[in-house]
Amino acid sequence: MSNNWWRDAVFYQVYVRSFADGNGDGIGDLEGLRSRLDHLVTLGVDALWLTPFYTSPMADHGYDVADPRDVDPQFGDLATFDRLLADAHDRGLRVTIDLVPNHSSDRHVWFAEALLAPPGSPARGRYIFRDGRGPGGDEPPNNWPSIFGGPAWHRVPDGQWYLHIFAPEQPDLNWDNPEVSADLATTLRFWLDRGVDGFRIDVGHGMAKPAGLPDMTVTDLKLLENDDDDLRFNAPGVHDIHRMIRGVLDEYPGSMAVGEVWVRDDDELRKYIRPDELHLSFNFRSVEARWRADELRSAVEHELHVVAGTGSPPCWVLSNHDVVRHVSRYGEGLVGERRARAAALLLLGLPGVAYLYNGEELGLPNVELPDEVLQDPTWVRSGGTERGRDACRIPLPWAAGEPPYGFSPAGVETWLPMPAGWSLLAADSQDGDEGSMLNLYRAALGVRRKNPAVSGDLEWLDAPAGCLAFRREGGLVCLVNTTNAPVDLPAGEVALTSVPLVDGRLPGDAAVWLTA
Ligand code: GLC
Ligand code: CA
Repeated sequence: MSNNWWRDAVFYQVYVRSFADGNGDGIGDLEGLRSRLDHLVTLGVDALWLTPFYTSPMADHGYDVADPRDVDPQFGDLATFDRLLADAHDRGLRVTIDLVPNHSSDRHVWFAEALLAPPGSPARGRYIFRDGRGPGGDEPPNNWPSIFGGPAWHRVPDGQWYLHIFAPEQPDLNWDNPEVSADLATTLRFWLDRGVDGFRIDVGHGMAKPAGLPDMTVTDLKLLENDDDDLRFNAPGVHDIHRMIRGVLDEYPGSMAVGEVWVRDDDELRKYIRPDELHLSFNFRSVEARWRADELRSAVEHELHVVAGTGSPPCWVLSNHDVVRHVSRYGEGLVGERRARAAALLLLGLPGVAYLYNGEELGLPNVELPDEVLQDPTWVRSGGTERGRDACRIPLPWAAGEPPYGFSPAGVETWLPMPAGWSLLAADSQDGDEGSMLNLYRAALGVRRKNPAVSGDLEWLDAPAGCLAFRREGGLVCLVNTTNAPVDLPAGEVALTSVPLVDGRLPGDAAVWLTA
C-alpha cells in the first residue's frame, strides 16, 4: 500500500469511552471497538484515530497518562490492542492513536519521584517546578490560569509550585529536558513497532514554554479556548519538538502525524507542516465557522492558503470530543440535522483529508446533562460556571429501543447517561433507512472514493448569494445553499444530494454534488 495513503484519507475519530462497551461495565473499550469494526468498513472510512486508552486515573478521561506504553484495564490490555490492530488492518483500516506529549498524569512514576525529590533535583527537572512569589513564596510563580479554570499552578508540601496548564492531575512536562524528548521517542517506537500507522498529537502547539515563564497580559480568556494571543502556546521551541517526532516517524515509512494545533494565523499555522514537521494539521476554522456561506468559504480559503506550497494536503474537521457537535451548533432539531447533512457534503467534497467524529454519521446532537452527572474537570474547576465537554461525548446508540441502545447490555448504566428518544438515531434504525444520516455518509464516502482529489486544488464557481460552489480536482462539483430559498444547479450530472431536489432545484440548507 502507498506510503501516501493519508493524503486524501477520511479518518474516523473513536472516542474510545463512548464508542462501544465490550465487557458490559458501561464504558467503551478496545474490545467493543473491535466488535464494531464492520460498522466502519460499511461506512467507508480509511483510517481510525483512537483517543487515549493508556493507563490513566482518568482525571481528564485518559488525557492524563500514567503510562503511555500500556493499556488501561478499563479499556483492555496490550493483547486486546494487538488483536484490534490486526483486525482493523485485515479490513483495510489504518489505525492512528493519540499522543499526549505536553503533560503526564500526576500518577506517572516520574511525577511520584518528583514529589519525593527535593527542589532543584533531576526528578523535579522533568516537570516545571518553581518557587512562588511574594512573602513566603505563597503566591503562584506567575499569573497563568488553567484552561479548565482556576490557577495553572499547584503547591506541593515543601512550598514549591508545579505548572499544569490543564488539570492539577496533568502536570506539564519540561520540554527543555532531553530525558522528556527521549522518552517520547521511546513511546513512538513502542507503538510503531506494534504496527500503528500514525498519531494525533494532543496540544501540538503546546509543550515548549516561553523563556522565563512571563506573566500573561491577556487573562480574561474563555475556559477551554486557545487564543492566538495566549503566550503559553505556539512558542518557537515547539517546532524542534515536531522535528524530533518527524525524525522518528521517518524511520517508519508510511506513518504519519496530525497535530491538534489551535493557531489561527495562517503563516504561523503553516510552520507546523514544514516538510520536516507534521504531515497534517487540523484547521479549526471549519469548526468555528457558523452556518453562513461567507464564514464557511472563508474557513476553506484560509486552509487552502495555509497549505499552498507546503506539499501538505488540507485537513478538514467539523466536530470532535472537545467542541459542540455540529448538528447542535448549526441550530438543533430538524434545522441542525438538515444543515449537518449539507455540511457533510461540504466536508467530504473538499480536497484532501477529512476527520469524522464518532456519532456524526448518526447525526447525534449534543445532550444537555443534569449537573450531578457531569464529569469534565472543567465543571468543578470553573466552580460550576462552565459545563465542559460531556454533552458531545455521550455513548453511541447501536440498537433501537431504550438506553443503553446496545452500547452496553440492557440494564447497564453507561458512564454518561444516554437520553430517551434516541431509538431512531441508533445505527440499526438508520441502517435500512435510505434517507438516514448514516446512509448519506455511506453514499458520500462511496462517491468520494470514485472521485479522488489529492492535490488540494479547488476552483471556486459563481454561486448565488448565501451559497458556495466549487469544483475540486478530478471534476466533482459541490454547491452548498445556506439560505432558506431554492437555487438553480450548476451544470453537470447530479451524483448526490443532502435532501431531495425540488422541481430540479436545490432547496435551502442543502448541498449537492455533481460530476461532469
Ligand atoms: C486536548 C484534548 C482534550 C484534553 C486536552 C488536555 O485539547 O483534545 O480533550 O482535555 O488536550 O490533554
Ligand atoms: Ca467496558
